[in-house]
Amino acid sequence: MSGLFDLSGKVAVVTGGAGLIGSSLCGALATHGATVVLVDIDSEAATEVANSIDGTVVVKMVDINSESEVEALFEEVVERFGSVDILVNSAYPRNQNYGQQYEDVSLSDWQENILLNLNSYYLTCKKAAAIMQGQEHGGSIINLGSIYGSQAPDFDVYAGTEMTSPVEYSAIKGGIINFTRYLASYLGEDGIRANVLSPGGVFDDQDATFVDQYESKTPLSRMAEPADLKGAVVFLSSDSSRYITGQNLIVDGGWTIK
Ligand SMILES: NC(=O)c1ccc[n+]([C@@H]2O[C@H](COP(=O)([O-])OP(=O)(O)OC[C@H]3O[C@@H](n4cnc5c(N)ncnc54)[C@H](O)[C@@H]3O)[C@@H](O)[C@H]2O)c1
Repeated sequence: MSGLFDLSGKVAVVTGGAGLIGSSLCGALATHGATVVLVDIDSEAATEVANSIDGTVVVKMVDINSESEVEALFEEVVERFGSVDILVNSAYPRNQNYGQQYEDVSLSDWQENILLNLNSYYLTCKKAAAIMQGQEHGGSIINLGSIYGSQAPDFDVYAGTEMTSPVEYSAIKGGIINFTRYLASYLGEDGIRANVLSPGGVFDDQDATFVDQYESKTPLSRMAEPADLKGAVVFLSSDSSRYITGQNLIVDGGWTIK
């Protein structure tokens, strides 16, 4: 393995590690030598993911919307493994009404979903950065964004389906991108890098009409697979990106160029 991408000796905390994307990211980091702390609220899925990965993966059940749980998580990681070198936020907290059409979203749903997402990413970044600030080598923070954090949704791809892009999502992902730039600017002097990894739509057995419409607008003619994000997370976590901070790395098969 090239030294540039070697994560041996690094400790990575991955929130939402049991999810569609998070599970793939955990696998990539572990394969490149990191000790991975897989954080989620779904213990069955988390255990299944951890067992499927060839490498060191430790599962922690933590609700990243709870300040006390997040604080205890990072204290335990430092106590047990000695450092927090990488934080990847790939959790996707949302309430049961999330995903409704624009007209049906109530003020309370808007508020709740925005708070669940932005608060949890803020909390984990704040607690991880406090530890990284005390480390000579700093650390790397990677927040999952989306193509819809820097671009308006294309509603044509949902035509003829029940699907939509929720209005909260655009506010959340736009916020994550600029919040991450803030972190990069503020924490740079401590050797802490902060970047966004923005996937395009990931195939997850969605309505076939949507999939066809989405793929026909994508230069590489297909939706993303979770494995398409592996290289990007290893790159942003490792020394190969050591002079890169505050950036939004878009992995979308070319969707955003059109
Ligand atoms: N799937 C896509 O097409 C896509 C595209 C672009 C961006 N993204 C972004 O990628 C990230 C991951 O998305 P995904 O598709 O893997 O989602 P997912 O729903 O498959 O996984 C999210 C994981 O987060 C966990 N989680 C939810 N609330 C939590 C909490 N409070 N504390 C701890 N864990 C919690 C869930 O249990 C789940 O395992 C999100 O930020 C999402 O917005 C996804």
